[in-house]
Amino acid sequence: MAIMLHSKEGMFRQGFFGLKCMFILICLVDCSPPEDPIKCSSKNADCTITNSYGAFPDRSICRAADVAYPTTEEDLISIVANATMTKRKMKVATRFSHSIPKLVCPDGQDGLLISTKYLNRVLKIDASTMMITVQSGVTLRQVINEAAKAGLALPYTPYWWGLTVGGLLGTGAHGSSLWGKGSSVHEYVVGLRMVSPGGPQDGYAKVRVLDSSHIDLNAAKVSLGVLGVVSQITLRLQPLFKRSVTFLMKNDSDLADEAVSFGNQHEFADVTWYPSQRKAVYRMDDRISSNVSANGQNDFMGFRWQTSLTLALVRAAEENQESTGNAEGKCIDSKLTTSTLTANAYGYTNNGVAFTGYPIIGYHNRLQASGSCLDTVEDARITACPWDPRVKSQFFHQTTFSIGLSKAKSFIKDVQKLVESEPKAMCGVELNNGILMRYVKGSGAYLGKEEDALDFDINIL
Ligand SMILES: Cc1cc2nc3c(=O)[nH]c(=O)nc-3n(C[C@H](O)[C@H](O)[C@H](O)COP(=O)(O)OP(=O)(O)OC[C@H]3O[C@@H](n4cnc5c(N)ncnc54)[C@H](O)[C@@H]3O)c2cc1C
Ligand SMILES: *[C@@H]1O[C@H](CO)[C@@H](O)[C@H](O)[C@H]1NC(C)=O
Ligand SMILES: *[C@@H]1O[C@H](CO)[C@@H](O)[C@H](O)[C@H]1NC(C)=O
Ligand SMILES: *[C@@H]1O[C@H](CO)[C@@H](O)[C@H](O)[C@H]1NC(C)=O
Repeated sequence: MAIMLHSKEGMFRQGFFGLKCMFILICLVDCSPPEDPIKCSSKNADCTITNSYGAFPDRSICRAADVAYPTTEEDLISIVANATMTKRKMKVATRFSHSIPKLVCPDGQDGLLISTKYLNRVLKIDASTMMITVQSGVTLRQVINEAAKAGLALPYTPYWWGLTVGGLLGTGAHGSSLWGKGSSVHEYVVGLRMVSPGGPQDGYAKVRVLDSSHIDLNAAKVSLGVLGVVSQITLRLQPLFKRSVTFLMKNDSDLADEAVSFGNQHEFADVTWYPSQRKAVYRMDDRISSNVSANGQNDFMGFRWQTSLTLALVRAAEENQESTGNAEGKCIDSKLTTSTLTANAYGYTNNGVAFTGYPIIGYHNRLQASGSCLDTVEDARITACPWDPRVKSQFFHQTTFSIGLSKAKSFIKDVQKLVESEPKAMCGVELNNGILMRYVKGSGAYLGKEEDALDFDINIL
C-alpha cells in the first residue's frame, strides 16, 4: 500500500486543469491506464516482463521467448500441451503483474509466458446458490461489481482492486478480518479448474477439476503459479450488506495490548501505525442493517491518480532527503502526509462526493476496495498511478510479514523500544502511510497462514 501526497498538489492540479480537459478530448484514441507489463520486440515473440513498479525491467533478468494469450480453456490446453511436448518452461502472467518478487520470470532464455489478459470473462453468477464462476484473468474489481449487481458480496478482499483473481489467489492475498474463515480470498474458493502439464497419455496437458470436497484444492488454491495454470475459479459469496466505518486515531502507548483484542471487536478491523509519531489509527468497521440509508464510498487517496509533475517533485524531494540523511525533513513531511490523510478520511466520503464526518455508512462493494487511478484517461506524462514506472514516481521497498497473534504484542513493544532509542528512525516509513496491520486467519491451504496472525505491511523508500 502506498501513499503519495503533498501540500503542493492542489496548486498543481489547478494549474493543470485546462490542459487536462484538452487531453481528455485527444486521448479517446490513445488513453493510458497502466502499461501492459509484457513487451515483445516482434509480435508475441522475444519478450520481457516486469511488474507494475518496473522493479525488474532488465531483459537479462526476466525474459521469455514468447507469450501466448489464450481466450478459452481449450486454447489454454493446447498451449500447455505444445509447450510440455517440447519441454519448455512456462510461467503465468497477468495484465497487472502486481507481485513484487520476480515470481513471474520463466527460468532461462527460452521460456513461454501464458498471459491471462483475455481470460477475462465472468462465466456464471447464481444468486440462489450465491456462487460466482470466473476465468482467472478477471479482476477483483469485476468480481466486486458483478457480485453487487446480483445483490451479492465477496466479504474480504485486498484493498486495491487492480488484481486478477488468479494472481491474488496464487499469492494468498487478503484483506483484514478474524471473523468467519478470515480475510484471505482463497478461503472462499469452492471450485477451481487448473491446466497442468501431462504425459503422452493425457495429450501432454491435464485439466484438474477440483471442488471443495477434493483434498488437492488445499494445494491448488494458493500455489504461486507452480502447479499449473488456473483456468476458472468458483467463489462463494454472501448477500450484499452495508458497513459502518469509523477511523479513530489514538496515541500508541497501549497498542501492544490493544492490537490483538481489537481484531476480535470489529469484523473489518485493521490498524495503521505511525511509530515515530507514536500514533495508531483504528478502523472500527462492522456490518450493519441494510436499511440505514447512506451511500458512502472509498476512493483511497493513495490509489488515486496524481499529476506526473507532482509525482516527480515529491520523488525528487524524497531523494534529496535520503541523500542528505535529512531525518528531520522526513518527519516533517510524514506528519503533513498523515494529517492530510486524516483530515480527508483517507479518501472515504459519506456520499461519493464529500466527507462530512464519521461514521461512513455504505454498501460493502463501495467500501472494501478501490483503485481509481486505473481510470486515468490521460497520457502517463500528464497523470498516472503513483507508482507508474513510465514517469519519475514512487518507488519503494515493500516488506510484508505475518506474526502469530500470540507474539504480536512483543513485536510491537520491540519496535517501540527502537523508536525510543532513535525517535526519527521510522519517519521514512510514515511518508508511505506507516505500517498497515491486518488480521489474517490460520488456513487449511498448504501455503496459507499456519496460525491466526497480524500481517504487517511496510513501504520504505
Ligand atoms: C497497489 C497494490 C496494492 C495491493 N494491496 C494488497 C492487499 O490489500 N492485500 C494483499 O494481500 N495484497 C495486496 N497486494 C499484493 C497483490 O495481492 C499480489 O501482488 C497479487 O499476487 C498480484 O496479483 P496479480 O493479478 O497482479 O498477479 P501477478 O503478480 O501477475 O501474479 C502473481 C503470481 O501468481 C501467478 N498466477 C497469476 N495468475 C495465475 C493463474 N491464472 N494460474 C496460475 N498462476 C497464476 C503468477 O505466475 C505469479 O507467480 C497489492 C499490490 C499492489 C501493487
Ligand atoms: C500446437 O501445435 C500444433 C501442432 O504443431 C499446432 O497446430 C497448434 O497451432 C499449436 N497450438 C498452439 C496454441 O500453439
Ligand atoms: C495516551 O492516551 C492515554 C489515554 O488514552 C493517556 O492516558 C496517556 O497519558 C497518553 N500517553 C501519552 C504519551 O500521551
Ligand atoms: C431496520 O431493520 C431492523 C432489523 O433488521 C429493524 O429493527 C429496524 O426497525 C429497521 N429500521 C428502519 C428504519 O426501518
